Amino acid sequence: MTSSNSRLYFFANWKMYLDHLESLALAEQLKKEASVISKGLELVVFPSALSLAAVSQTLSESGIAVGAQNVYWTDRGGYTGEISSSMAQAVGARYVLIGHSERRHIFKETNHEVRQKLEAALTAGLTPVLCVGETKEEKMSGQTIEVIEAQLRSAYMDLSWPAALKVVVAYEPVWAISTGNACEPVAAGKTAQRIQPAVLALTKREPIVLYGGSVRPNNVKSFVAETHIQGVLVGQASVNYDSWKAIADELGA
Ligand code: PGA
Repeated sequence: MTSSNSRLYFFANWKMYLDHLESLALAEQLKKEASVISKGLELVVFPSALSLAAVSQTLSESGIAVGAQNVYWTDRGGYTGEISSSMAQAVGARYVLIGHSERRHIFKETNHEVRQKLEAALTAGLTPVLCVGETKEEKMSGQTIEVIEAQLRSAYMDLSWPAALKVVVAYEPVWAISTGNACEPVAAGKTAQRIQPAVLALTKREPIVLYGGSVRPNNVKSFVAETHIQGVLVGQASVNYDSWKAIADELGA
């Protein structure tokens, strides 16, 4: 764990797991826990775009922040089906996931598009959570660091970072996401250790590095025990109240 006064980050990516009513019901449950739990934790939930406004409203003043799962880089216009950073910001989002592995691999988002989204998020005052990670093939051929450094470079090179916004990177190995096969914590810690100086060199800011990929209540502690990992980005295990609470309890303990 990092220095004693640093908070741990628990970011919950709800993906497309919950419909609108389910998202609201879960937000209501989390709100009741928030005042007890959030003292030592930075809590953020990322509902679907459909529920961003309502979940933000439910969680306002709860100590739990809300983020968008994806945004487009243009502010307004004829872009059927998209939402912009400023639109997300206007309904209460404070964060946005950028370049999540599912966006990169299912929706074929490129490093260049990731960069454009990052710039748009910063302009709108959203804190971008940049997701990076290698595929199984890249890992097998020893390219993990190379791939991640290329993702970091194309995202952050020559970008001026607003002083008020944190630099957050989520290390999410593609092969560990939604598989139940989490990265070995020491290995994740070593990759996070390489990510930190690379981001510092590019942004001149100390990043917050999260681990994501099959985090569960029974393994979450071992990730944040790594010096260079400040928190977790959790998918599946964050969309159920009991396991969300169990993770928060583990982190708060
Ligand atoms: P998972 O997803 O926890 O379901 O593996 C993590 C993520 O994709 O952010």
